[in-house]
Amino acid sequence: MAELNLILLGPPGAGKGTQAERITEDFNLPYIATGNILRAAVAEGTELGLKAKGYMDAGALVPDEVIIGVILDRLQESDAQDGFLLDGFPRTVPQAEALGAELKELGRELTAVLLIDVSDDEVVRRLSGRRVSAKTGRVYHVEFDPPKREGVCDVDGSRLIQRDDDKPETIRNRLSVYHESTEPLVGYYTEEGVLRRFDGERPPAEVHDHIRAQIATLRLEDRL
Ligand code: AP5
Repeated sequence: MAELNLILLGPPGAGKGTQAERITEDFNLPYIATGNILRAAVAEGTELGLKAKGYMDAGALVPDEVIIGVILDRLQESDAQDGFLLDGFPRTVPQAEALGAELKELGRELTAVLLIDVSDDEVVRRLSGRRVSAKTGRVYHVEFDPPKREGVCDVDGSRLIQRDDDKPETIRNRLSVYHESTEPLVGYYTEEGVLRRFDGERPPAEVHDHIRAQIATLRLEDRL
């Protein structure tokens, strides 16, 4: 079987992290999420974290020259040689071009870009109710996906917190950054023939079923 090189694309709060957890389990792929990498760098106070923090808090994008090298290096690691699931990268056309050039040089190609479609109003509802485990980053929603005990992670009992960039004014800014800088990737990857679109307003289990079926079909086609 050829490698499974996947990208999750969609507005903030579309459910990329929620689906990633399931897809990586289904297909045993390394999960490379720029948001998680950057938040860990901020928490550890590394040079990358210091560079990224101000942009993230404002809901703006970290500059291309800061993030591109980090992700291209990550893709060289041994666990990513048979496939990967990228979440949050690329987020601009220059990032997509850099990724495309790197994959080409390595003789690899994208299997699919999975676009999770959600309206702006739904994004605001979801992000204002999102809570995450302070320890593992596991995602909940106070209304749509609540933990068994309020404020506590089901998996490890850690405290649930609200992300700094999930405040209402920052959410609006993240949405406009998405429309301006990231949405052009929909056209970009449609032209490359790898875009697959999913209705992200369905319940998480249904979105997951559709994505899993699509990936299974792609694998089958690849074998034919
Ligand atoms: P990042 O962490 O990537 O944030 P994001 O793309 O804004 O995505 P989110 O994590 O907010 O949402 P999600 O789609 O994963 O949704 P989730 O599954 O949690 O990036 C953060 C920041 O880092 C950026 O703003 C930027 O500053 C920087 N950055 C990152 N990558 C960068 C790059 N490449 N270049 C430059 N800067 C970069 O779900 C949301 C909520 O909805 C949850 O509460 C969940 O329980 C609920 N939910 C999920 N699915 C459903 C459903 N189907 N129905 C009902 N509720 C649902």
